[in-house]
Amino acid sequence: MSEVFRLDTAHTSYWFRVTGQGHLEHLYYGPTLPARQDPDALAVKRTAPIGTSTNYPGADPVYALDNMCLEWSGAGRGDYRETPIETDTATDFRYTGHEYAPAAPDGLPRPHGASQSLRVELADDAVGAALTLHYDVFYDADVIARHAVLSATGGPIQVAKLLSAMVDLPGGDWTLTTLNGAWVKEAHRQALPIGYGIQVNSSTTGSSSNRHNPGVMLAEPGATEEHGRVYGCNLVYSGNHYTAVERSGQDLIRVACGINPAGFGWTLAPGESLATPTVVLTFSDSGYGGASAHFHDFANDHIVPAYWARRPRPVVYNNWEATFFSFDAGKLLKLAKQAKALGAELFVLDDGWFGKRDDDTKGLGDYTVNPRKFPNGLGHFAAQVRKAGLDFGIWVEPEMANPDSDLYRAHPDWAITAPRREPTLGRNQLVLDLTRAEVRDYIVANVGAVIDETGAAYVKWDYNRNLADTDAPGFQHRYLLGLYDVLGRIFGPRPQVLLESCSSGGNRFDLGMLCYGPQIWASDDTDPVERLEIQGGLSLFYPQSTMGAHVSEAPHQQTLRDTPLTTRFNVAAFGDLGYELDLRMLSPVQRKEIKEQLAFYKEHRATFQYGRFRRVDTGMGAKPNKAVWTVSAPGEVIVGVFQTLATAAEGLDRLVVPGMDPATEYRLRTREQSVFLSRFGELIKHIGIRLNPEGMAMTAVNKVYRLTDAVEDYRVFGAALGNGVPLANQFMGTGYNDRVRMLGDFGSNLYLITPTAQTGSTS
Ligand code: GLA
Repeated sequence: MSEVFRLDTAHTSYWFRVTGQGHLEHLYYGPTLPARQDPDALAVKRTAPIGTSTNYPGADPVYALDNMCLEWSGAGRGDYRETPIETDTATDFRYTGHEYAPAAPDGLPRPHGASQSLRVELADDAVGAALTLHYDVFYDADVIARHAVLSATGGPIQVAKLLSAMVDLPGGDWTLTTLNGAWVKEAHRQALPIGYGIQVNSSTTGSSSNRHNPGVMLAEPGATEEHGRVYGCNLVYSGNHYTAVERSGQDLIRVACGINPAGFGWTLAPGESLATPTVVLTFSDSGYGGASAHFHDFANDHIVPAYWARRPRPVVYNNWEATFFSFDAGKLLKLAKQAKALGAELFVLDDGWFGKRDDDTKGLGDYTVNPRKFPNGLGHFAAQVRKAGLDFGIWVEPEMANPDSDLYRAHPDWAITAPRREPTLGRNQLVLDLTRAEVRDYIVANVGAVIDETGAAYVKWDYNRNLADTDAPGFQHRYLLGLYDVLGRIFGPRPQVLLESCSSGGNRFDLGMLCYGPQIWASDDTDPVERLEIQGGLSLFYPQSTMGAHVSEAPHQQTLRDTPLTTRFNVAAFGDLGYELDLRMLSPVQRKEIKEQLAFYKEHRATFQYGRFRRVDTGMGAKPNKAVWTVSAPGEVIVGVFQTLATAAEGLDRLVVPGMDPATEYRLRTREQSVFLSRFGELIKHIGIRLNPEGMAMTAVNKVYRLTDAVEDYRVFGAALGNGVPLANQFMGTGYNDRVRMLGDFGSNLYLITPTAQTGSTS
């Protein structure tokens, strides 16, 4: 009988086989199968010919590609569904052999540490083409990674479309979940029914984009965070992506994923090959949360650079929101010292340190330090920051130039422009042509020199506009290859430098960028209520350790929303925590609160950054005005309960904590946090303070006096936590006491859960 490929991970099996005609037939993707399972039983049956099908030559009359589950298809041979490949002719690839061996490096970012690698060779002799399908198994993470490499073995081939992978899954009334958005509102989760026809999740901006993240999930009807069958698919690529989900008339669901064919095009000369980015697939029968857990382990262990895998991330203070472009060394050093006093570990010098960069119209592309801001140079400033007890980090935006820059004046041809057209600008800047070797060399030399001169322990690599004026087919992919080359050359030899990428926030939040730097600034929007959507959405595919999350000012600079300092921390703590507000404006009680926040975060850093993350959709988490997140690590669980808009006399809040050991007794305790008097306005009279809320006395008291939010403290078994623990009443106007939870609009609490004896298992 023909070859059967059985790829198994800890909890899943992915099987396919070679048919008598040499096509690769997908058999199964689901919970782990015993090896002796009969493959015939798994195959989609072909027992009667389906009308208007096109028969494959030389096969039995029911062999029609359109009605089969395939691992790869072509065009023009009777499969009328989405094709992963388009050239100038029909294509029909058939099996020629296989080998258990990994792919050779090819300039694209690839996951590391596969437990098994398989390459299946296919050929289409009529075209003169060979196709290698690569499969990498990540056993512990329950992920299968795939990519395809096309080679011209005869004459030249014009490639209009070459995706990385496709697979046909059994389906029906399933749901497609994607992350959509825009600047300051990235990664909002959307679920749509998979109807007949094709749904496409793609980007065309040149980046993976804040409009549509490359990750998608497919779920059976009724799937929840904890239950149900869910498939996940993501692409290790930072450019234009494309995922087509097609439901056929036979209710097969094809998922095809790779580089967006829009604007793509590639000429393969005889002997040349084209490699595609890696697609990662997972399956879980434990709901969306199960699929997310696989992707989190995968990113932490097999995507981010090995040096940073599971390594603690520092708490940063970044000056951007406090100062924008208006600073000098003295002002920054004061901020750095204050940040240190609160407990921060690394100071990030953001935009504005170079050239004539006093606003965003000039200076990008230049690396000369602004002498007015740093009279003693940058190396000296970095040394002073270190002397103050903080590591030093620096912002760069190396892929760009302002027309008003020395670089552009010297090399106007280095910027991407279209012939006969006036160049487009985004944030007053042009994109440098990273397909050119001299441009890449300039960036590698200059960014490398800045890192070495300052001894930077951290780099924030920004990218603040999208590609345009790129009319040559395939140019945008070549740009990405250039970017990956530059990142590899700068950070490969400096693995200990923590790279946080950024693109006006999360405009390039993808597994490709994470291969070079382990964290990404998730959004320019630090409003915690917005961040519930953004971080919550991203968490479908990316772990907390990848998300830069900072506490900034309120009212918030993008939403005008006034949120408690506690909630700003409570949300940011589920990521790589930082602070960005103006520390000079803090009152003594706010300082105390921040100091306590930082101490708590550092004590539980490993749990916040690497614990198992769950979005809870039962109990309070099922209410429309709540979000509940948990992170669990051996020995402790931290729960975040977030309320968006308050409702009057809010009913019972039942805290459900999934994943606990039912027979272990735990202590559930609220983290102590402040309630500032200013929150109450005139209501303070009800709590016995007879001061004019707008008056000077009140302003003074508010700076030095704070109330403590209700602290609940229970002993509960895991079984009860899974069932839901009723919490104390919320404030409803019937009086304030220290057992009333003061949530209101945008209030939140963190709860710490620890076993009462050191016997329990909590993750
Ligand atoms: C982008 C980033 C911000 C900040 C500014 C600086 O908008 O997302 O965090 O670095 O650039 O210009």
